[in-house]
Amino acid sequence: KRPGPSIVFIFGGSGDLNYRKLTPALYNLFLDDWMPDHFAIAGIGRSPYSNDAYREHLLEGITKFSRRKGKQNGHWKDFKEHVSYLQMDGDDEKAYHLITDMVKEKELEWGIHPNVIFYLAVAPQLVPSIASKLGALKICSDTSSTRIVVEKPFGHDLASAHELNALLTGMFAEEQIFRIDHYLGKETVQNILALRFANALFEPVWNRNYIDHVQITAAESVGLEGRGGYFEHSGALRDMVQNHILQILCMVAMEAPVSFEANEIRNKKVDVLNAIRRIQHHEVHDFAVRGQYGPGWKKGNEVVGYRQENGVNPQSSTETFAAAKFYIDNWRWQGVPFYVRTGKYLNQKDTHITIQFKPAPHYAFPSESADSWRSNRLTISIQPNMDISIRFQVKRPGQSMNLDPVDMKFGYEESGGEHAPEAYETLLLDVMEGDATLFMRADQVESAWKVIMPILETWEGRKPQDFPNYAPDSWGPDDADALLARDGHSWINTVQN
Ligand code: BG6
Repeated sequence: KRPGPSIVFIFGGSGDLNYRKLTPALYNLFLDDWMPDHFAIAGIGRSPYSNDAYREHLLEGITKFSRRKGKQNGHWKDFKEHVSYLQMDGDDEKAYHLITDMVKEKELEWGIHPNVIFYLAVAPQLVPSIASKLGALKICSDTSSTRIVVEKPFGHDLASAHELNALLTGMFAEEQIFRIDHYLGKETVQNILALRFANALFEPVWNRNYIDHVQITAAESVGLEGRGGYFEHSGALRDMVQNHILQILCMVAMEAPVSFEANEIRNKKVDVLNAIRRIQHHEVHDFAVRGQYGPGWKKGNEVVGYRQENGVNPQSSTETFAAAKFYIDNWRWQGVPFYVRTGKYLNQKDTHITIQFKPAPHYAFPSESADSWRSNRLTISIQPNMDISIRFQVKRPGQSMNLDPVDMKFGYEESGGEHAPEAYETLLLDVMEGDATLFMRADQVESAWKVIMPILETWEGRKPQDFPNYAPDSWGPDDADALLARDGHSWINTVQN
């Protein structure tokens, strides 16, 4: 079912996120016939643009970054009529009448009060000022149809996230606030829930009795992509672990929900975050590893080290790689390590989850076959591959009883997955529909900060002595391997050179 009439106001309308992701996503929804009968998209920004120039600018973004390029047989001509630009300064309270005027105008034109969505695709320091001006508008007291979408990073630490939550919840009802984590919109991430809870096969073994350990890798082959200024004040732990990785961890570890109602799913995820054992400051060294890339070669091209990047302090202590080991203190997961890692300029783009099962309890086969014997492993590849595979043992054809590990694989692409919507398409549609299941609730964000605060504080208080400690195109610092080797494990890479 398509959502009701909607106006989407995008603060940061002339910015990068809108150019690369938001308008392309709305355009794809339009092409797939998911946009409402009546809709309007208004980019808001300080740069001067005529409507026409703005539309041309967005078409360029679509052509460069969308999964469907260009004008698409004239559909662009229809779509662009819904797009306009409001030149205004988000800090200027007096300019906000432009927004209410537009809402009134559309209401008259469409004969119905639309959903009004404010998407804050702006630098985090601008969020409080814009949100408080929006909160003062009368339309924002309409909790059923006015919504605000807030991008990550949601706060810089626990205290600032708490402050931002207090500000937002002081002006908007929780059901109006959509804190976005785009990983939750990814098809393969959502599929974790389908795999676990739509099948009777996995859940009985999904626990400490059968699972040895879990790995979550979000390796990036790209570097800073021109965002040195932002990244320098963030670092990999804040940029990827606090949000994307912990959200994935929650989906792997949560208890079965009773329904797919937003609060039910979010309650189950918060339970996981609250059960993650707090790493004590003095033990951070044993549980977390940080890294920073130096100069080197990336796919045959010479690249500068992190400290030489634009917007980065030449003595920077910011980590471009982070790995950690977490334990979840509950009945299901007691004693099972969850290893997570992420980093820039790593050897491959490879985001996946590995569930490593325990060995079979008794080995009855001839001892010569023991060498090739491997325990079962379930791999959920999120990107660039989108597949789920299970490794198990089979008999090698022949007279002797030799065993070989083989993979049984479900590939998303083979079942139409190449047409899968992008994360922002799914999430924007959910916002228009008012469905917050895939968005983060205030307590969820704060619980995730609590998990990483001891690591952040310890790292900030103790300058790294060995930075830079990994080369571009590698899999990160040696210490990351040592973190697993201490437990007799090693990282699994699913994408090979
Ligand atoms: C963003 C981070 O949230 O996610 C970026 O700020 C990172 O640093 C990006 O590159 C990764 O997203 P994706 O969808 O490309 O895996």
